[in-house]
Amino acid sequence: MELSAQAVALLLKWFAENKRTLPWREKRDPYRVWVSEIMLQQTRVEAVKEYYLNFTARFPTVERLAEAEEDEVLKAWEGLGYYSRARNLLKAAKLIAEEGFPETYDGIRALAGVGDYTAGAISSIAFGLPCPAVDGNVLRVMTRYFADGSNIDEPATKAKFTEILRRAYPKEAGDFCEALMELGAIVCVPNGAPSCGACPWSGLCKAHLTGAEESFPVRNEKKARKIVNATVCVLEREGKYALEKRSDKGLLASLYEFPFFEGEADVGRFGEILEKKKAKHIFTHIEWRMTGYLIKARGIFPQYEWRTAEEIKNDYAIPSAFKAFTEWLQ
Ligand code: ADE
Repeated sequence: MELSAQAVALLLKWFAENKRTLPWREKRDPYRVWVSEIMLQQTRVEAVKEYYLNFTARFPTVERLAEAEEDEVLKAWEGLGYYSRARNLLKAAKLIAEEGFPETYDGIRALAGVGDYTAGAISSIAFGLPCPAVDGNVLRVMTRYFADGSNIDEPATKAKFTEILRRAYPKEAGDFCEALMELGAIVCVPNGAPSCGACPWSGLCKAHLTGAEESFPVRNEKKARKIVNATVCVLEREGKYALEKRSDKGLLASLYEFPFFEGEADVGRFGEILEKKKAKHIFTHIEWRMTGYLIKARGIFPQYEWRTAEEIKNDYAIPSAFKAFTEWLQ
């Protein structure tokens, strides 16, 4: 299998004419490319835009980021999800501030929080290196193009297409890399009909030419999410609310939450229940089904940090899983 020079040229032309205006495409230095690619891991472009602008305004250089407290970085990440990305970003920033931004694929790949895909993206976009960035979107485009039934959840499939793309890399490395992502994001979309009429490869794509777009990609069946019931207590006392910091390991590590209990908890012991509501939050592998209580606290409960709504809003990163309950704060 080979991606022809003609295919590459068609893609680059299409990208030049159709690429979206995105904030991280305006000003390109390695720091900004890196921040944007970390934010774009597992997160939609639309969701990232505003965070990217706020984050780069608050931390305009890697040195400024390196000096920040972890809580400040988590606050800037609040609502974006996958918070280990923020912690790794800070960790890597400290290294980069000391040693400079790495300029090789291996150097970039060694940064905390950077996997093969992100290392390929940063190498291509920031340094013009011929290093493919291959994720599920790119594999969808590739398996359709070649009508290739390899399972894209198998590492060998990713390795195979990485090599095909490496051989095809033009000198416009960054544009090529982003053009593939862009094609997967706005034309060769998952589920439902891809917009083959708008695709620069419609005359070359084997899946399209045989009417088999929907047969690709082939992948593993999704496992069902684990369902976890939980109780969330919004305790209020004299205009302050009880917070606790989650463990620095595991789901939502180091973020703040309201007193949280797996399963059903005896909430009457905290005080008078004023309101109750249910909410759920879906993570990649887990679904929380929460019952939340707004409670007028009777007692000191010194195990918690007590903060005003204003302090919480400004300084504490509360995951969006608790959004239904932060609405109670006033
Ligand atoms: N997804 C990952 N990186 C991207 C980029 N640079 N532009 C658009 N979507 C992306």
